[in-house]
Order: sequence, then structure tokens, then C-alpha cells
Amino acid sequence: MLDQAAQLKDQLLEKIETASDMATLEDVRVTALGKKGQLTELMKGLGKLDPEARKSTGQALNQVKQAIAEALESRQETLKASEMEARLAAETVDVSLPVRPEAQGMIHPISQTIEECIAIFAEMGFTVGEGPDIENDWLNFGALNIPPEHPARQMHDTFYMPKAEGEDRQGPEGEMERVLRTHTSPVQIRSMTSTKPPIRVIAPGRTYRSDYDMTHTPMFHQIEGLVIDKSTHFGHLKGCLEEFCRTFFEIDDLPLRFRPSYFPFTEPSAEVDIGCKRGGGTLELGPYGDWLEILGSGMVHPKVIANCGLDPDEYQGFAFGMGIERIAMLKYGIPDLRTFFESDLRWLKHYGFVPLARPNVAFGLSG
Ligand code: PHE
Repeated sequence: MLDQAAQLKDQLLEKIETASDMATLEDVRVTALGKKGQLTELMKGLGKLDPEARKSTGQALNQVKQAIAEALESRQETLKASEMEARLAAETVDVSLPVRPEAQGMIHPISQTIEECIAIFAEMGFTVGEGPDIENDWLNFGALNIPPEHPARQMHDTFYMPKAEGEDRQGPEGEMERVLRTHTSPVQIRSMTSTKPPIRVIAPGRTYRSDYDMTHTPMFHQIEGLVIDKSTHFGHLKGCLEEFCRTFFEIDDLPLRFRPSYFPFTEPSAEVDIGCKRGGGTLELGPYGDWLEILGSGMVHPKVIANCGLDPDEYQGFAFGMGIERIAMLKYGIPDLRTFFESDLRWLKHYGFVPLARPNVAFGLSG
């Protein structure tokens, strides 16, 4: 039996050494160590030996088994490494080849619109900020001068988060609710508490309100803007938004109208309308005498500045917020808001954008 074992060992080691791929190696393992393997069979024969011989032969067989297992493992390592090398060599990408014409992916109009906005505001020296979708009460409302009893809270159709077991909701003013942010304005607070003025930031992102019909979806997108410095005034707000709207809609003589309005976190506040004409179920933007509301804005309320730990006698500035879907629908003639979120590939093919033509103010925003 010992002779047999030694012979088997030599045979197996040779097979292992010459195995040229993982499948062959696995075959060797099964024929040697599998349930019906050659070595396994030899071990089954141990029972028939007398105790002395069983002990010494058993030890010898175990050594063979271990040697085989080690050889299998080291060969496996070697083969793995060379298979990886072969794969790397075979899958090299020639970056100088032209893009395959059959490439199918399209950029969603929401992503496109966000990138267009970023390109325009970046040109004006804005940076991009962000905040989380789940905010606390203080950041979504309180710090923005919307106290608990304020009617604006009802208007926001807020989604409140259920309290998780053991969750700590302690805030500066005691226990705080957690909400899905109803607007991107909390990023104003986050920016003012984390950076020293001068501040010029935009913050695109998802927002949530419990509402669903032709013109409302429970999740939608906004882009917030905030400028804080020592002498920023309403003229800057007007100039900035005029520049933005004309560049975004690609209409040089697009008129803007600043209409007095009210937001708890800005004073004075203005809603911005752009010129248009309506008729026959269509809408055209331009200097045609009719008006369409597109965004909310105003000078940041001194209380909001103070809530962020800044001195309102030293710092002032403006903020604005607009709906991304809304400006995308207007620019690209998309009639129904809900289609943005239906993941219909035909819709995306029609309204989507080619991935490699990224928005850029100098070379054209939308290709
Ligand atoms: N947060 C407001 C909204 O959701 C928009 C806004 C932002 C208005 C900033 C003024 C200043 O409607």
C-alpha cells in the first residue's frame, strides 16, 4: 500500500504541475481527493490493516494527501495569476478608437438641465453645494424663519419621518422632527454655517412634497442659489437672474419681471416671471407681452443670517430657488411632469441627451 501511495503521489504531482487551466486542475483534485478519488479509496482500505500497520500507513497517506493539497493550491495561484494576465491582455481598450455608433445610453433631461445650470452659474463664480434629502425641522423650517405655527408649514405638504427606535433627535431647541426636505433652502443654512462669506453657492437636488397630479410629483428637483457678502444688493439679484435666464433659455431679449411676493426667509421677496405668448395650446418664450412665473427669490432675511451665527449688520445677500422640472419642461417642450419619472425608454430616447455632448457655456449649452 505504501508503494502504491508513493507512486500515486508522483503521478498526481506531475499532473498538477502540468495542468494548464483551472478545469484540468479541478479534474485532478476530484480524481485524487474526491469521494471516489484514488487517494480516498486507499484510505478506505486502512480499516483492513492490523493496528500497527494502520497507524504508519495512515500517517504516510495523510502526508501524501497534504502534499497533494498544497501542490493543488500553489498551482491554482499560478494559474489564476496567468489567467488574469491573459484577460488583461485580451481586454485592453484602444482609447483611440471612435465611439461605437450603437451606444444607447441617454442623459435624462433632469441631469442635463442640472448640468446646464451648473455650467452657467460656474461661469459667474458660483460653487456647487449640497445637503441631505432627510433634514431636521430646524434646517428645513426653523432656521429659515418658519416657526412651528407658521402657515407656510401647511403649504409645504411635508413628509415626516417616523421615529426609529432609540433614535436621538435632540437639537439646539430640544427634540426635532425629521422631514424629507420640502425645498433646497436648508442648503442656505448649511452653507452659511460652514463657510465664511463671501459665499456664492448653488445647490441642485431632490425635494419632496406630498402632492400628486398633472403638475406635481411627490419627489421633484430644485436648484437653490445663495450669495452673501458685505454689500450685495437687489441689483445683483436682478442681474444674476437675468443673465441666468437668458443664457439658459438661449433667448437674448427674454424679458424678466420681478413681481413682489412673500417668503418667510427673504425680505423683500420677488417672484420672477419670464416673457411668453400662449395660444392654440402652445407656449412660446420671448418678448410677447404675456408672463409666466418661473422662480422665487429675495434678499436673505436678517433673522436667517443671524440664525447662522453671522452679523446681519455686516452681511447681506440674496437667494433664489427654482424647480428644475419646470424649467426643463419650458425649454424642451415636455408637456407632462409625470413622464420624467416613468422610466419609459421611448420617452428617454426622444427627450434624452447624447452622453458625450456635455453642456458648456462657450460651445453651446444643449448641443
Ligand atoms: N424655497 C422656496 C420654495 O421652495 C423658493 C425660494 C428660495 C424663494 C430662495 C426665495 C429664496 O418655493
